[in-house]
Amino acid sequence: MAGGGVPPSGTGEDGEQPSVGLGFETRAIHAGQPPEPSTGAVVTPIFQTSTFAQREVGADQAYEYSRSGNPTRTALETCLADLEGASHGTAFASGLAAEDAVFRCLEPGDHVIVGDELYGGTFRLLDRVHSLTGLEFTAIDLSDAERLHAAWRPTTRMVWLETPSNPRLQVTDIAAVAEVAHGRDALVVVDNTFATPYLQRPLAVGADIVVHSTTKYLGGHSDVVGGFVATSDEAVAERISFLQNATGAVPGPFDCFLVLRGIKTLAVRMDRHCQNAAAVADALAAHPAVERLYFPGRPDHPGHATARAQMRAFGGMVSFTVRGGEAAAVAVANATRVFTLAESLGAVESLVDHPHRMTHASLAGSPLAVDPALLRLSVGLELAADLIGDLHQALEALPA
Ligand SMILES: Cc1ncc(COP(=O)(O)O)c(C=O)c1O
Repeated sequence: MAGGGVPPSGTGEDGEQPSVGLGFETRAIHAGQPPEPSTGAVVTPIFQTSTFAQREVGADQAYEYSRSGNPTRTALETCLADLEGASHGTAFASGLAAEDAVFRCLEPGDHVIVGDELYGGTFRLLDRVHSLTGLEFTAIDLSDAERLHAAWRPTTRMVWLETPSNPRLQVTDIAAVAEVAHGRDALVVVDNTFATPYLQRPLAVGADIVVHSTTKYLGGHSDVVGGFVATSDEAVAERISFLQNATGAVPGPFDCFLVLRGIKTLAVRMDRHCQNAAAVADALAAHPAVERLYFPGRPDHPGHATARAQMRAFGGMVSFTVRGGEAAAVAVANATRVFTLAESLGAVESLVDHPHRMTHASLAGSPLAVDPALLRLSVGLELAADLIGDLHQALEALPA
């Protein structure tokens, strides 16, 4: 079952996933996407319909209304759940809508421990939406799972983490966090947006729920906004599926098609993102205008060993601070020509972000506020030499 209360199109008649035993790249292209039975179309069609004709009143049928279920959405839910190694996948209209559904699984008075490096919108959702309805949360450095014990309350029901985190790419040992949380009957949620299931599969190392902004690497082309929840916990899956229909933050069929199409090339794109990011990180490490570099692929990164153990490679994101503080960082962000100054990440084109004033502005004044001298790069698929040349010209324009 893959969300929406309807049978997944990728499930065989005997209910078995046809993709069992196949590799990631093969499943990314085929899971949940058999040729369309009525026409043989090789690509899952965009079922651009809001409703489905019913044979007779009360007849049991797969699809009735597209908020509750749509075949293009089912294909996406089946495929991405498969890639995450989850038995259930539920697609949402954005990453934040997916996160909202997960937080709604908790009750007023419940306590959540979150990593202290967090996408600004996730913090805002907790701080200005869910805390108003009684959810409590504490942000701590999760790079040492032992710190969990001190922050734990009798009401703690969930631990939420990003690894690598946004924006400084801190790495958390998922298995270590899961060991502590499961001993105390709490759910572990991993935002796997930065790594994608190609690089890291949190459920396989103990997480209970994976969330995604499919807007990023999964879509991969900066042309769609979407979110996803994957889990093999039956009770959670039932609740998330209920919330998807009851609150209605569903992606349209065309958006599902775009994410599905992006996923087909995820593996090859991620390989190149990782290569280019490593080359950019090496170039930045050698540049005198760079003060601190954050890239989990470098041996001096504090999370390097954990990243090596739980990830296939180190991802396509690189962050750094510039000597000269905020003014210098802003000058560099404004001076790049190949890197586009924009929010978001994970697409074919390289982007530069000034988190303090852009993606993480909602953290200003909170203990999670971001260093104003920090820049975050989403390293795209252009020629690495062009990306490095662009950063050099932007850094060299800084006053000495
Ligand atoms: C790590 C992470 N999680 C969640 C989100 C939210 O996703 P969306 O913008 O699709 O709502 C973002 C957005 O940038 C993100 O970077």
